[in-house]
Amino acid sequence: MDNNNAIGIFDSGIGGTSIWSAIHDLLPDEKTIYLADSKNAPYGQKSKAQIIDLCIKNTDYLLQMDCKLIVIACNTATTNAIKELREKYTIPFIGIEPAIKPAALSSKTKVIGILATQGTLTSDLFNKTAGMFQTTKIIEQVGHGLVQLIEAGEINSEDMSLLLLSYLQPMIDADIDYLVLGCSHYPYLIPQIKKILPDHIHIIDSGEAVARQTKNLLREQVGFTNTKENESLFYTNTNPTVLKDILGKKYNVIEKEF
Ligand code: DGL
Repeated sequence: MDNNNAIGIFDSGIGGTSIWSAIHDLLPDEKTIYLADSKNAPYGQKSKAQIIDLCIKNTDYLLQMDCKLIVIACNTATTNAIKELREKYTIPFIGIEPAIKPAALSSKTKVIGILATQGTLTSDLFNKTAGMFQTTKIIEQVGHGLVQLIEAGEINSEDMSLLLLSYLQPMIDADIDYLVLGCSHYPYLIPQIKKILPDHIHIIDSGEAVARQTKNLLREQVGFTNTKENESLFYTNTNPTVLKDILGKKYNVIEKEF
């Protein structure tokens, strides 16, 4: 594998661009190819077998473009399929999981909240991690409807505010001091969430941790690029308008079947 090849990144849609952004900030010279599988979003309500099949499809597409490593920028896909992907392929994978550990270790009230998809919260991998923090109460909430609204470009809509309030108020009442965003789409909701949460509640997501892990893997196994090409390509299999809106004009979005 050529170390000048791109880092491949995929998500069920546009949310994983929050992870791409952290990777791009930390590794600005690296070439990246991002797949937004928005046609199949949301993954969160699909079965494990369906999620694995979609991840295989995305991986095969990125491999056709000679990616040197793959970042699964989706908690639902990681928690349901990373083991199977690692067994099937030789290319290295980096996944994203809800940042329960830092939240549980830093919490003073010993009550934390997690907002994630149903697929993530019911996965074995998530439950194994959550089970390691027995002294912390973890309030789990499925973010029903949030991904659909984000994919539709309705980040600041009234419907979004009402849904978020209904999910977060019980956590506030239960005295959480950390809110874990366990879905890569949700960082786009932080301004909305901040309007609801009292100031003392910290919000954490896993974007920067994934970027650091990507850098370590490049250093230890795959190799950094030695060109200054640093192209960022984005593929989507639906109407590209919302993806273009969140990325801004600078980036090249390609609409394609995959
Ligand atoms: N962005 C994804 C995640 O991190 C998946 C959302 C979905 O497709 O349900 O879980």
